[in-house]
Amino acid sequence: MDKLLIQGGKPLRGGVRIAGSKNAALPILAATLLAEQPVTIANLPHLQDVTTMVELLGCIGVDLTVGEKLTVEADANAIVHCSAPYELVKNMRAAVLVLGPLLARFGRARVWFAGGALSGARPVNLHLRGLEAMGARIHQSGGYIEARVEGRLRGARIVMDQVTVGGTENIMMAATLAQGQTVIENAAREPEIVDLAQCLIAMGARIRGHGSATLVIDGVTSLGGCTYEVMPDRIETGTYLAAAAATRGKVLLRNTCPANMAAVLRKLEEAGACLEAGDDWIALDMAARRPRAVSLTTEPYPGFPTDLQAQFMAMNALAQGTATVTETVIADRLGQAHELQRMGADIVVSGNVATIVGQDSLRGTAVMASDLRASAGLVIAGLAAHGKTRISGIHHIDRGYERIEEKLQILGADIRRVGSRSS
Ligand code: UD1
Repeated sequence: MDKLLIQGGKPLRGGVRIAGSKNAALPILAATLLAEQPVTIANLPHLQDVTTMVELLGCIGVDLTVGEKLTVEADANAIVHCSAPYELVKNMRAAVLVLGPLLARFGRARVWFAGGALSGARPVNLHLRGLEAMGARIHQSGGYIEARVEGRLRGARIVMDQVTVGGTENIMMAATLAQGQTVIENAAREPEIVDLAQCLIAMGARIRGHGSATLVIDGVTSLGGCTYEVMPDRIETGTYLAAAAATRGKVLLRNTCPANMAAVLRKLEEAGACLEAGDDWIALDMAARRPRAVSLTTEPYPGFPTDLQAQFMAMNALAQGTATVTETVIADRLGQAHELQRMGADIVVSGNVATIVGQDSLRGTAVMASDLRASAGLVIAGLAAHGKTRISGIHHIDRGYERIEEKLQILGADIRRVGSRSS
């Protein structure tokens, strides 16, 4: 297993280009299953999860042409299976996003799902309930979710019990080909939902209200081809900004979208960062100052994103003052606190609240990444710490960050990837 080795203590300085959004790319790739003509998706990030989703489409029978500059053309006209098998999707929860499109277009779908679909750590009960309201019959056996519908799905009024990004996406995609109108109340408002809706609209779907809590979808009988460019990754953007703040650096991030990042930029300003932004760039300058502690609570968009909570906890571990970080979106997501403590951080976790007393410095040591965003928090701590940090379990980070060590090297960090034997 590879590891990341970081010799910390150097402020990040310089400019990098932000990749396409993973969380927009995955549903948009799933949406290509709905189209009767080829769909070309551009600005895909080069990530393990995107490769897995492309492989999954190939396994289902989509004819794929991978072009230059991270472009994929998907032609879903020769689908042979409506099934997403265990071997391919065991490590990617987002595979469940093919359920709605396959069901809407072919009347049946079978997807392997990790954990309990109805009551596991991160269930998909709300996806299934929405599809059932549209006429699907769903049952689970041997780890698979199986869904069927006679004829077409029917439009319905669906009130989501809880804001769910994936649930909103699955139901919105299914509704594009349903008979009649679907209204989704308490829909997620994330920019990635808006990106997916715009792609579906380019394919011929009739969708209103994307970006608000009420989505209205008028079903059509078929969708066609289009060319669509995936939005920039706001989580990658926020990660590099937090890393620059923690190391007292100065960075310029290009090909990003500041308009999607208001809650995050506000917190960085509160931390003492000097920010400038244009339509597609953000510059951050700490003027060599230590960040100030910033308390935050994660919330669905437009609130502060759970996917940046671990990175801001790492920044707070080095900040001046005391902060609380409250996680309200995803249960048990403060796991990085334990590894940060091993680096000298002063963090007390009680339930879903972490209290962090900022330290002058952290010390590098061997730490273990436990999930994608937790590992980004450890990288930030390692970049700012004194001495050498060795991070194992970095397959997690490769799921969400394109060429992370190369980009950080461009920003002046002393970071490299090593195989376990050479570490
Ligand atoms: C997406 C993002 C993920 C992010 C999360 C929250 C992708 C590929 N992933 O995940 O990076 O952390 O949004 O912003 O876009 N829930 C239920 N029942 C359901 C569905 C969700 O109880 O049927 C709960 C979940 O357990 C969780 C909360 O709702 O506590 C939010 O989950 P959700 O928004 O669905 O997250 P994902 O779409 O899986």
